[in-house]
Amino acid sequence: MPEFAQKLIFWQRRHGRHGLPWQGTRDPYRIWIAEIMLQQTQVAAVIPYYERFLARFPDLRALAGASEDEVLQLWSGLGYYARGRNLLRAARQVREAGRFPDTPEAIEALPGVGPSSAAAIAAFAFGRRAAILDGNVKRVLARCFGIEGARPQVELAQRLLPRRSIETYTQALMDLGATVCTRARPACERCPVAQDCVALRGGRIGELPAARKRGPLPLRRSIWLLLLHKGSVLLERRPSVGVWGGLWAFPELVSGLPEVFCRKVLGCDVKQSQRLREIEHGFTHFRLNIQPIRCQVRKIFPRAEAPGRIWLDLDEASRAAVPAPVRTLLLGLA
Ligand code: ADE
Repeated sequence: MPEFAQKLIFWQRRHGRHGLPWQGTRDPYRIWIAEIMLQQTQVAAVIPYYERFLARFPDLRALAGASEDEVLQLWSGLGYYARGRNLLRAARQVREAGRFPDTPEAIEALPGVGPSSAAAIAAFAFGRRAAILDGNVKRVLARCFGIEGARPQVELAQRLLPRRSIETYTQALMDLGATVCTRARPACERCPVAQDCVALRGGRIGELPAARKRGPLPLRRSIWLLLLHKGSVLLERRPSVGVWGGLWAFPELVSGLPEVFCRKVLGCDVKQSQRLREIEHGFTHFRLNIQPIRCQVRKIFPRAEAPGRIWLDLDEASRAAVPAPVRTLLLGLA
């Protein structure tokens, strides 16, 4: 077995993470949900969502029978909602197929599962010798071996795989990247492979991996209309494509004055409107500046209840499938 793997496995048993809620099982369903939630999201943020999700959908059958709205409601606040929509599609596919796929290739064919998540699921649930390669692992390999670039890293990751204990090794790589070989100020004194680390020996921890050059993210602007009527707010379902596809949000002011737009498009007679403090929300590829406008509604015409629009009590609205900034604004209205 490669010495690297042996050292990591030994280290994981003593110093790795062991009490995480998706550990200690071979149930592919539970492992799959965890790996999807852990894409782009830190362990600490995932845990409460994971526990709520598993309580509501304890197995694949329960999830496959859910509506998209129910899934997104539980996902609300976790972000990257395509993950939630893909989870439901994948659950239905697996139900049709009759069993959970058990090779990395077949797992990767499920909606929302990339190569690294597929490898993790295959290793944890089925003991397959598959190599994970997420952002943390790429950093570990870049530092430890001085090797960067997609192809060389994929080949290296394959070569390093142990013959046995693939689950412990996979967890070790994750744990090392998350708790020791962190991006800023890594704890090299606690690293089981520090003696062999190319970056440490060459005094190049700060240079490996090489920083990606990235300009500032583009800024988009949006004006949101917070229509209030007798303790209720108007929410609109976002079109199914896009970052918040399928979620409920405040209507957007597309053009013109709020009062005119509310009357003509939303069928509401607004007696008073007030700009609230702007908020900014970050996505991977852009920043969104939101100007909320609070509108006190005097009278609603039937048009306001068009399909895809709904009036909800404030507390009901904040429990609905809404993105985080909508929830924040709703809590501010209460
Ligand atoms: N990140 C991705 N998968 C993980 C796992 N199984 N445990 C901890 N962190 C992770």
